[in-house]
Amino acid sequence: MYQVYIRSFADGNGGGVGDIAGMKSRLGYLRDLGVDAVWINPWYESPMLDGGYDVSNFREIDPLFGSTAEATEFIEAAHEHGIRVIADLVPNHTSAQHVWFQEALAAKPGDPARDRYVFHPGKGADGAEPPSDWESVFGGPAWTRLSDGDWYLHIFDGSQPDLNWEHPEVRADFEEILRFWLDRGIDGFRIDVAHGLVKDLTFPDTGGRTELLGTKHPVDHPFWDRDGVHEIIRTWRAILDQYDDRMMVAEAWVHRERLPLYLRPDEYHQSFNFDLVEAKWNAESFAEIISTSYKASSAIDAASTWVLSNHDVVRHSTRYGLPAETDVRRWLLEGPHEDLEAELGNVRARAAGLISLSLPGSSYLYQGDELGLPEVWDLPTDVLQDPVWERSEHKAKGRDGCRVPLPWEPTGPSLGYGPGEPWLPQPAQFAQLAASVQAADPTSMLLLYRQAIALRREHLIHTEQLEMIDLGPNVLAYQRGSITVIVNMSDKPVPVPRGNLLISSDPGQTGSQLAPDTAAWIGTQ
Ligand code: GLC
Repeated sequence: MYQVYIRSFADGNGGGVGDIAGMKSRLGYLRDLGVDAVWINPWYESPMLDGGYDVSNFREIDPLFGSTAEATEFIEAAHEHGIRVIADLVPNHTSAQHVWFQEALAAKPGDPARDRYVFHPGKGADGAEPPSDWESVFGGPAWTRLSDGDWYLHIFDGSQPDLNWEHPEVRADFEEILRFWLDRGIDGFRIDVAHGLVKDLTFPDTGGRTELLGTKHPVDHPFWDRDGVHEIIRTWRAILDQYDDRMMVAEAWVHRERLPLYLRPDEYHQSFNFDLVEAKWNAESFAEIISTSYKASSAIDAASTWVLSNHDVVRHSTRYGLPAETDVRRWLLEGPHEDLEAELGNVRARAAGLISLSLPGSSYLYQGDELGLPEVWDLPTDVLQDPVWERSEHKAKGRDGCRVPLPWEPTGPSLGYGPGEPWLPQPAQFAQLAASVQAADPTSMLLLYRQAIALRREHLIHTEQLEMIDLGPNVLAYQRGSITVIVNMSDKPVPVPRGNLLISSDPGQTGSQLAPDTAAWIGTQ
């Protein structure tokens, strides 16, 4: 599954922002890469205050990207290329520009027009304090007060009011939205903030507790991972099941023990597994994540998923070039930037690609992974657009560095991305990473990905079997059907197992030794 961050993929109609025409013109590239499906980040009408995750109309494509007719044509064209299309649905909140929120604003406190969102009087003598201590994911309080005194909830930016999922109209409208896109041929949905939606409407304080991952035991939280979400998902699944062969994947940042609940046979088909995004480069943690996730998925007969990067996290080629103890998000702004070993990160990213593509289930690529793009951590602060930058009061740089427009050609004002000036500047080093340059270089990351995807199709997709094997300290190794996968995460060369070398992340691989930070697939039958 290839994730297209539409704003930064290809700009077909000028204007500096990627669009449907651009995606359509690059379908041949995606087919040659060998992907089965694309997941497109939100393309709906939006003021774009959170990159389109602030939707003002779920039934219209934003004019920046094209039109609803063009979207339908794109879906057909992708199908002709053998590529399925997954849309991104954002049910936790709308844009403040959505007609429902505009109606709510025009109404008075207590008016039913406000019930589709989460409005509440404040605390304290004159209601001047927010109803609870809930914090926004982007920083600052999750409540904003209107001039009439009423407060509304936004778990993300103030321009993204949370919907009230107890309201029957909210439920009915999303059921229609699903049908609207299914009827236009969409193959499925990536559901944004799938662990949100349902809130504890008694608004207990959290005491600052927002984290669900990494806790020892699941926690009871007033706005994350509440049991009520499952009833909603079941109604959606029933709708999908009325169509032929459609799917839903959840973005659910929940405790490992709770994740299988989302994957029950009448709920999601898949849920992102973000453990590899958080993993440090060492064999023990990779092995632990791979075997635990695989066992958990097999136990409930669900497909595992593997994610190295996406539009919300620092690109892995940069993560792997930083010392293990680095807090990567803080490093973007605070450094020390001389800590970055970019070449090391790139070598490891090649190996990581071979890990992700060798595993059972679905491998999710983020656009530019296949080009080895690094995080553009040094974007000047005056071009930043992620709301995180302002809401954190300039303490966190946000996610723009992984969203820089793709380089397609080594020259031209936007490196082949489009005719206009791109919405974020591309760094000079993107020129040699351009897709056309890499397509002509047999040692490039792009050709490594193409070759690995082709080999995956030939040897690996027919079996879900995975067995961890021990090939020495700090060496990650497992058997997948007839293939042994070995990744040398130690600092010394290790022997390559006997067999037929199918692919190595080291383009100069010769002989019987595997260099540090290198992965290989060996045919053993
Ligand atoms: C998800 C998206 C992220 C967005 C947020 C709010 O986490 O991946 O990009 O900002 O939801 O919709």
